[in-house]
Amino acid sequence: MEEVVDLVNRTLTKLLPESDLPEARLMQAMRSGVLNGGKRLRPFLVIHSALQFNVDLNCARRVAAAIELLHCYSLIHDDLPAMDNADLRRGQPTIHKQYDDATAILAGDALLTLAFEVLSDPQTHSDPHVRCELVGGLAKATGFQGMVGGQMLDLLGETSAFDLNTINRLQRMKTGRLMVFACEAGAILGKASPQKQRALSSYANNLGLAFQVTDDILDVEGTSAETGKDTGKDNAANKATFVSTMGKDAAHQHARMLIDQAITNLKDFDSRADLLRDLALYVLNRRV
Ligand code: IPE
Ligand code: IPE
Ligand code: MG
Ligand code: MG
Ligand code: MG
Repeated sequence: MEEVVDLVNRTLTKLLPESDLPEARLMQAMRSGVLNGGKRLRPFLVIHSALQFNVDLNCARRVAAAIELLHCYSLIHDDLPAMDNADLRRGQPTIHKQYDDATAILAGDALLTLAFEVLSDPQTHSDPHVRCELVGGLAKATGFQGMVGGQMLDLLGETSAFDLNTINRLQRMKTGRLMVFACEAGAILGKASPQKQRALSSYANNLGLAFQVTDDILDVEGTSAETGKDTGKDNAANKATFVSTMGKDAAHQHARMLIDQAITNLKDFDSRADLLRDLALYVLNRRV
């Protein structure tokens, strides 16, 4: 993971240069929201999916950075007072606390559009068809059918009683879809067979859902010192989560089942996929 963090951080730093323009406040807020740590899990998925197909790391790292830019936008907006109203992110004050709400909204907007700018740049891939597939895939994964739709459900869940099926769908949309796209992007870059693409997508679908289950568990039993975020927020906001519906122990069992499934999804991959298998176990046992 350290290698990915280093590679993607260098790429992100280049994409977000310091500015002395009159609007530099915006670029500072963007840099604060991106270059402030983070596990870089989605970049890990892009890079290690791509490595299954011997993709040039120069392409993979730009796609990884684009997906991380989009993820960071989603965190800045998720923390806003109108959404989760969080004070702490990655161990530091949230972007609207460091700056103000309007600047945080604009920084998120600009990171979202920068992600697509990076994907559409010929430096990312020489084949325009590949670039177009990446742009369309990221848009679909993160719009109303994916992450943003999931965020809407998450907020509606504060005031409606959702059944387990709806909670499942909510979590897959808000968190799972971007992780699925991270793996798909590696497969697109590698021109993987449909069978391998499907296997990687299934892996990420199970991993992504398990990741949100463990996120919900950590919100209950983790500490801010461990996670770098406010804790106890889901319960306070009356969110519909696996933990609120089935309890912590059953939620952990559910995460374990999903992780077993994710590892099974990789059965046709060779030892190059060992780090993807290790990542699945990390997600299950993480404290961060
Ligand atoms: C937090 O994601 C938001 C969720 C989808 C639960 P991460 O836990 O990957 O956050 P960072 O990027 O490491 O800060
Ligand atoms: C956030 O989920 C998911 C997205 C940002 C799309 P959470 O609200 O559970 O994430 P944290 O716990 O604030 O990181
Ligand atoms: Mg949220
Ligand atoms: Mg939140
Ligand atoms: Mg959470």
